[in-house]
Amino acid sequence: MAITAPRGTRDILPEEIPNWRYLEQVFEEVCHLFDFHEIRLPTFEATEVFARGVGDSSDIVRKEMYTFLDKSDRSMTLRPEGTAGVVRSFIEQGMSSWRFPVRLFYNLNLFRYERVAKGRYREFHQFGVEAFGSTSPKMDVEIISLLDIFFKKLGLKSMSLHINSLGTPACRALYNKALQSYLKPSLDHLCGDCRVRFEKNPMRILDCKVASCRHIIEGAPRLVDYLDEESKEHFELLKQGLDDLGIEYVVDLDIVRGLDYYSRTVFEFVSENVGTQGTICGGGRYDSLIAEMGGPEIPGVGFAIGVERLLMEMQAQGLAAKEMVKPAVFVAYLDQEAGRAAVKLVKELRLAGIAAQTELCDRTLKAQMKFANKLDARYVLVLGETELQSGKAQVRRMCDGEQVDLSWQSIESWQNLLDK
Ligand code: HAM
Repeated sequence: MAITAPRGTRDILPEEIPNWRYLEQVFEEVCHLFDFHEIRLPTFEATEVFARGVGDSSDIVRKEMYTFLDKSDRSMTLRPEGTAGVVRSFIEQGMSSWRFPVRLFYNLNLFRYERVAKGRYREFHQFGVEAFGSTSPKMDVEIISLLDIFFKKLGLKSMSLHINSLGTPACRALYNKALQSYLKPSLDHLCGDCRVRFEKNPMRILDCKVASCRHIIEGAPRLVDYLDEESKEHFELLKQGLDDLGIEYVVDLDIVRGLDYYSRTVFEFVSENVGTQGTICGGGRYDSLIAEMGGPEIPGVGFAIGVERLLMEMQAQGLAAKEMVKPAVFVAYLDQEAGRAAVKLVKELRLAGIAAQTELCDRTLKAQMKFANKLDARYVLVLGETELQSGKAQVRRMCDGEQVDLSWQSIESWQNLLDK
């Protein structure tokens, strides 16, 4: 049987790479504008990092982690998200003594054992940021503004920003109690997952897509009615900050997010172009996470963008397709001696920063020319005895067939020609 890539993983082929690099470059540029700096993290961590960080009532920890015992019987997990690992690093590297706010960004591959669908993979990529050390809604506005500028630079339109407040753990505890009292009489009619959620984190039931659960949820009490005064004010200031910057949003009381660590601000950027999984970016505030993971009481806020979904969105809006770098020069040859000169010339051209190629499969001149055409090289040089002896040649400009005289051994002449 043929060997294939594991379900839910993808080969990213050379023709797709320019799009990836383009997004990576623009994201990095925008992060630098905001003084965010890159962090790179291990691909796997002790399982505890995610069990404690993401929370053991989340679907991610309960059902989706790639967990294994290493050869010393330690439980390890391929990272299913970035935040918990960044927080682990924040504590371990003593970042609480760095200049505040600490601003980090990342570009990571992640692993979740999910049901595979359009825009939902088992290995996928995220661009994310995490900012530590400020409880102010100004910091929330700052990272949403970063996203706004990133999407604008990419030329993306028509994605909507949905925001909500989940309040503090204390008001959520009150709310969860109220929700449990409301749901208790219907417990037998909830799906299996929701019955587990009922015990561990009843709020997550609000996120269930099963029709019978949705029906029961309809009349449930709402978290917004249980928010404390400070959380309400925090949310008002967030909205005011977004208004001041002209960033449009929708208040969406249904956002609960799938990870346990959030408090107060949560938000998502949603689009209709990425299949059942409309969320391109999700984020929010997590003021207790560092302390819960054994570090100091320092607040954090961040987001992560699904890169595959962002690429789908770009494509749907006709924005993808950046061109690949094409070779500037193809050196064809007539015989073996000219072939040796071609290899040397190509080396010198490359040293000078000119993308050049020569024939490597010993094909006929006709086949070499056909190949140069397929490559879409800008100029083709054919080396034979006459060219070797005279040091002069006519090179062909492939776009219009024009012949140009050139001292082909002089790299300067090549540079002048290509600069035109
Ligand atoms: P998340 O909502 O789990 O949040 O993921 C963020 C984004 O990653 C999603 O909106 C989606 O675009 C993408 N994504 C998630 N799962 C998949 C998948 N299976 N296939 C393709 N794309 C996927 C987090 O991960 C948080 N760590 C975000 C955060 C950072 N919150 C605060 N800081």
